[in-house]
Amino acid sequence: MSRHSDDHYWILETQTSAYVFGLNQHGRLVHAYWGPRLPRRSDYPPPPDPPGLSSFDPADTCTPEEYPAAGGTRYGEPCLKVSFPDGARSTDLRFISARQDDDTQGWVITLRDAVYPLWVELHYRIHSQLDLIERWVVLRNTGPHPVTVERVFSAVWHLPRFETGCRLSHLAGRWADEFRLVREPVYDGTKIIESRRGTTSHQASPWFAVDSGCAAEDSGPVWFGTLAWSGSWKICAEQPPRAAPRISLGINDWDFALQLSPGERYAAPPCLAGYTPGGFGAASRALHHFIRARLPHAGAAHKILYNSWEATLFDVDEASQKQLAEIAAGLGVELFVLDDGWFRGRRSDSAGLGDWQPDPLKFPTGLGGLAGYVNQLGMDFGLWIEPEMVNPNSDLYRAHPDWVLHYPQRPRTEARNQLVLNFARADVQEYMIETIDRLLNSAPIAFIKWDMNRNFSEPGWPAAGERQREIWLRYVEGLYRVWGELAHRHPQVTWQSCSGGGGRADLAVLRLADQIWTSDNTEATARLRIQEGFSQLFPAAVMEAWVTDMGAPLIPLEFRFHAAMCGSLGLGGNLLHWTGAERETARRLIAQYKDIRAVIQSGDQYRLRSAQENAFSALQYTAPDGSEAVLFAFRTFLPEPAEIPVLHLRGLDPGALYLVDGFSQPRSGLAWMLDGLHLELGNFCSTLRRIYKIED
Ligand code: GLA
Repeated sequence: MSRHSDDHYWILETQTSAYVFGLNQHGRLVHAYWGPRLPRRSDYPPPPDPPGLSSFDPADTCTPEEYPAAGGTRYGEPCLKVSFPDGARSTDLRFISARQDDDTQGWVITLRDAVYPLWVELHYRIHSQLDLIERWVVLRNTGPHPVTVERVFSAVWHLPRFETGCRLSHLAGRWADEFRLVREPVYDGTKIIESRRGTTSHQASPWFAVDSGCAAEDSGPVWFGTLAWSGSWKICAEQPPRAAPRISLGINDWDFALQLSPGERYAAPPCLAGYTPGGFGAASRALHHFIRARLPHAGAAHKILYNSWEATLFDVDEASQKQLAEIAAGLGVELFVLDDGWFRGRRSDSAGLGDWQPDPLKFPTGLGGLAGYVNQLGMDFGLWIEPEMVNPNSDLYRAHPDWVLHYPQRPRTEARNQLVLNFARADVQEYMIETIDRLLNSAPIAFIKWDMNRNFSEPGWPAAGERQREIWLRYVEGLYRVWGELAHRHPQVTWQSCSGGGGRADLAVLRLADQIWTSDNTEATARLRIQEGFSQLFPAAVMEAWVTDMGAPLIPLEFRFHAAMCGSLGLGGNLLHWTGAERETARRLIAQYKDIRAVIQSGDQYRLRSAQENAFSALQYTAPDGSEAVLFAFRTFLPEPAEIPVLHLRGLDPGALYLVDGFSQPRSGLAWMLDGLHLELGNFCSTLRRIYKIED
């Protein structure tokens, strides 16, 4: 890593990339370069200072500013939009100073409005080994009057001008169909992807990758990034006419207004971006490394869990869960999770949320009886909760009807018969911290699945008066506070982020949770596609995947296992109905997963053939030291006669000798990668092959 600055010109170099900006001749802070690291400092271009083309295409709009604020003749997407008390709605940011920040290995650039005492700090942190740059922004109002911030994005990322046009990759979806990878050209204008739902969402993910249309999985320049935020967010991919494209992102400004009182400061969430010449796969691996290293329990292997949700739904009680626990323990399961249905009044999704005490009819001795039994069987005990929600049919709601998001004169729209507790309120936060803290103290609970089964509606916060539109921000900050405090008080607990599947999957929640429940869709062939989309951003270690009864008997148990073994393995089928032979298969594959999980959960992932595009797909995980690897291949339905393509392995030591399960002849890493290997697989069949380095 290195960083240099002279003449108000900043070069942020990572191991192989560089990000450069500076002051142009008009004193504007502008972006100059982002791409491969160049041999000499003089190689980087000067800060651009484009002249205007006409009164309709003025210089302000043509200049790639590092942090454009709405004002003057700027007509593109701004990062900042502020209203001042005298009615002025434009901001004129001027460079004030720059300082090196030794904590972040980067720079802090301070800007200030030319007239009003509004300060903007641009923070840059370099993650040199991963070729990533992290940016965030701090606003400060040092004046005597409040100002209203109507948009505060975390960054804009300026891209090169591609001769072939700009292609955007992003993730789209819906409930039970999350993380569908979309690649599409960005035409002149602005493409917006966003969540307005109060949470990250199933429908879109705060992640992008951009290329010239020529990058592939293993090659080609890719620029990519993500936002660390679990509330509403927005990405604007802009292709101005005849100019370089750019991507700006941050908290969604829809229905948003933040009041900065005199003396107040606000730090917007960080975003992370990188450049790689190594294609989409290398981009994903950089993000995987970054995420894995920062998980709350980084490095710890995830336990294989059993969860009976799909098998028993709300019909849980101590006796029947004990019966399932006995079978699960016999198969080699390490963590037994009690899902929805365990608390007071919960017989269906129409009642009980908010009343977080064990149902006395289902669990007469509390949770301690089941948890103790599970521990005796040699497993940890885990529990499902949904702290942000309340059913109108609950004691909590009857006592505090004003604690939910609402507009006093409007009906409260229910989804899944539930309303959203206003986590922006300090009293709600305190109540929930104490309630869940008591719950965690009541039994030996080692794992919590934290769910959120609906999005916002009527986002009113009557008590906040003029600051109501801060709800989008304060709710999420409240969530982080409650969850953070509970995690602090209970460091032994592993947390999983769930929102009806993968509705809350982002870098910020992964500072609290070690895992994400990927999707409520557990049908293995659908999962292959969902998991591939998920892997664009997230590593296998955080991807909780269950073997269930969905798709059986068409999809064999072994296939269902293999699909789930590509992430953090769990079981969710009705074990009572599994035959002796099925249990034997499960025992064998669970034992095998224990052997390979270190490679899967902390190795490098290579998407050899896309499940999104092909009925024959394959994935490989390679140990960080290249000493071993695991290959999974899946065939769904290919009409006969089918030709199964050769697979080229990845990430092996080219000169070392490797043995691949099922092949008698050891070959060099280079041979397996270049010449590849051929597998025979029938329809709806899968295979798992271990790869061993036998000689350096
Ligand atoms: C959500 C989760 C499921 C399950 C149910 C319980 O849908 O994604 O896994 O926990 O809630 O109600």
